[in-house]
Amino acid sequence: MTPSTTLRKRVLSGMRSTGKLHLGNYVGALANWVRMQDEYECFFCVVDWHALTTDYADTSQVKQNSVEVALDWLAAGLDPERSVMFIQSHVPEHAELHLLLSMITPLGWLERVPTYKEQRENIKDKDLGTYGFLGYPVLQAADILMYKADVVPVGEDQVAHIELTREIARRFNSFYGKSGDVFPEPKVLLTPAPKLPGTDGRKMSKSYGNTIMLTDPEPVVRQKLKTMVTDPARVRRSDPGNPDVCPVGDLHKIFSDSATMEKVNVGCRSAGIGCIECKSWVADALVQLLSPMQERRKKFEENPRLAWDILEAGTKRARKAASETMNDVRDAMGMSLTYEAPVVKNAQ
Ligand code: TRP
Ligand code: SF4
Repeated sequence: MTPSTTLRKRVLSGMRSTGKLHLGNYVGALANWVRMQDEYECFFCVVDWHALTTDYADTSQVKQNSVEVALDWLAAGLDPERSVMFIQSHVPEHAELHLLLSMITPLGWLERVPTYKEQRENIKDKDLGTYGFLGYPVLQAADILMYKADVVPVGEDQVAHIELTREIARRFNSFYGKSGDVFPEPKVLLTPAPKLPGTDGRKMSKSYGNTIMLTDPEPVVRQKLKTMVTDPARVRRSDPGNPDVCPVGDLHKIFSDSATMEKVNVGCRSAGIGCIECKSWVADALVQLLSPMQERRKKFEENPRLAWDILEAGTKRARKAASETMNDVRDAMGMSLTYEAPVVKNAQ
């Protein structure tokens, strides 16, 4: 190992097994992870057990969904030479640590987590009154603390979970860290998330059916762009518009170069360009971004065993780190596997 690899800070992040990823997943997480590989020692985990916290009734697609996520990671440029990629359920130590952390996590901490309250209120089509769903952030804490991660790149919605992880780490250390802290407190690295609208102008999300997938072929990307909503004030071709209130304008801001952005700004406001032309420029930028990914993905699709082999190699590396942590945890708790002669207490 070169000195630079040993000195690098460690990152862990996770993504649920949702199946194929869309541009929102890319912009909100994956693109950032790809960049982080240059600077950090990275662990990226497909969290299939987390997917079960809401989708427990039908598990027939979980495995395939995990593989699809991993394929998109590889397509987007996560590099198995530099990053450890694995599926959470393949590293059963996560369950063990989750159990131990659950012993010391007060219920009140979990009930106060904003995502818990929101989802209980908003998701009505499944029963989220389960033990596992309440424990979601404890499992997440186990994912992070298992690798003693220094930094966790996440979006704004996950900040409360990382804060909880820090509190759990602190509590663990205060109970059992007699000879030094077992867990470092991980820091949030907030992923800057530009507003990414879907084709209907609402936030891009699988549940809205308004996504552009990383696997969408060029004709599909172009077709989706054609149907995308625009500035509602621009009814006729001769009406001027405003890219700042147009979802297509938002996409330009993320994906287009400054020269195109300038043409859009000037042309839209003066009615010098039409929306069809403007949309075709976004499509150009997207196709340019996606086609190298799709090219990389092809290799794995033609030989799916390749991706599975990468995940297996990742599991091995992850389990090595995980078993070291679990040894530390057991030692700290006085529950190690090694024989110790019974301590005879002096009778008074
Ligand atoms: N809860 C995260 C999400 O919904 C996924 C996740 C699970 C995660 N374990 C993690 C993220 C550990 C960062 C670190 O996006
Ligand atoms: Fe939106 Fe472009 Fe049409 Fe302006 S020209 S309203 S930015 S699609």
